[in-house]
Amino acid sequence: MIWTIILLIQAGLLYFVLTHRKRHKTDPPLDKGVIPWLGHALEFGKDAFKFLGRMKIKHGDIFTVRVAGRYVTVLLDPFAYDTVLNDKNCLDFSQYAATLMDRIFQLQLPHHMQNKSKTIMKQHFLGMNLSSLNISMGRHLHNLLKAENSMNQKDWKDEGLFNFSYGLLFKAGYLTLFGGEQNNNRWTHQRSIKNTRQEKKLAQCVRQRLCELLSPVGLGGDSGGSDWVQAYRQLLQDEGVDRDSQNKALLMQLWSSQGNAGPAAFWLLTFLLTNPDAMNAVKREFSGISQTSLLNVKTPVFDSVLEETLRLTAAPFITREVVREKAIHMADGQEYLLRKGDRLCLFPS
Ligand code: HEM
Repeated sequence: MIWTIILLIQAGLLYFVLTHRKRHKTDPPLDKGVIPWLGHALEFGKDAFKFLGRMKIKHGDIFTVRVAGRYVTVLLDPFAYDTVLNDKNCLDFSQYAATLMDRIFQLQLPHHMQNKSKTIMKQHFLGMNLSSLNISMGRHLHNLLKAENSMNQKDWKDEGLFNFSYGLLFKAGYLTLFGGEQNNNRWTHQRSIKNTRQEKKLAQCVRQRLCELLSPVGLGGDSGGSDWVQAYRQLLQDEGVDRDSQNKALLMQLWSSQGNAGPAAFWLLTFLLTNPDAMNAVKREFSGISQTSLLNVKTPVFDSVLEETLRLTAAPFITREVVREKAIHMADGQEYLLRKGDRLCLFPS
């Protein structure tokens, strides 16, 4: 018994020595919280926005907090964001992306594939390829709205703006990037979810069903989907990724390409519908655009509405792993060093 106690004390001391951290002169303000190891995890998890607001008042625009054994530096100074986003050598996104991929999609892809898939994305989402995607997206949006309109004339449907925007953008985005609806996409699910277990089960079923729909068979053979999807699927095959993981990888691409567009459209419409001056300015700008020459059209008014909407409503956590020590210059002239091994979080708000 006495040996067990001695061993436990020694393990505790070793843990303390290994994880104890003191603030250096060049470090951002350090706030470890009162609970050993957990630090601020509970408060952070409960209401991140409130917690960060409290820390900002206490420490300013940069601080390091302990969260479940990890040290997380939170950077709230927007003038320092460009340095962070442009530094791929010291600040890495791929480790965190791999963790998310595994946690959300139970998907592990070869590490070196990330750069290759980004190269493919750049080829297909820029220049002429982007223009043809835009034209296809416009066509799908037009057809979906027209179908909705003719149904409404017979049978008026009342729907919330969020469901409308998300549903419309999702359908149009899906058809543009992932192509055909050859499948019989009938899908029945429980109407009411009574508890978290049922919710988890339903989520698993939906994930499984979506994977089936996104498989080459689900998309109507190997030619299903946009050029980008075909190139991405080819990459997966060339890398020897198994069938199940290929489908999961496509589901991940569906999520990353469609997850934010619907909510962004909702906030954009909300802004325009509640600001008649902005709505009129956008309508004026659009009325001057010729439908026949949609390539290289400049829409500064609409762009600023979109950017302002995202600035006011999106609350993304942009996360990087510090893989090499990095100096951060703040707008107030202060300079801090980010420590290797810490996590960095930007929270534009
Ligand atoms: C208004 C719509 C969108 C918003 C607000 C949005 C927002 C974001 C944000 C905040 C990130 C994290 C960036 C970072 O940590 O550096 C991100 C990443 C990403 N987004 Fe979007 N996104 C949108 C639309 C799209 C679309 C349409 C696509 C694909 C066609 C897409 C594909 C991606 C990908 C692949 C990543 C991961 C980037 C990487 O690995 O470095 N997003 N998005």
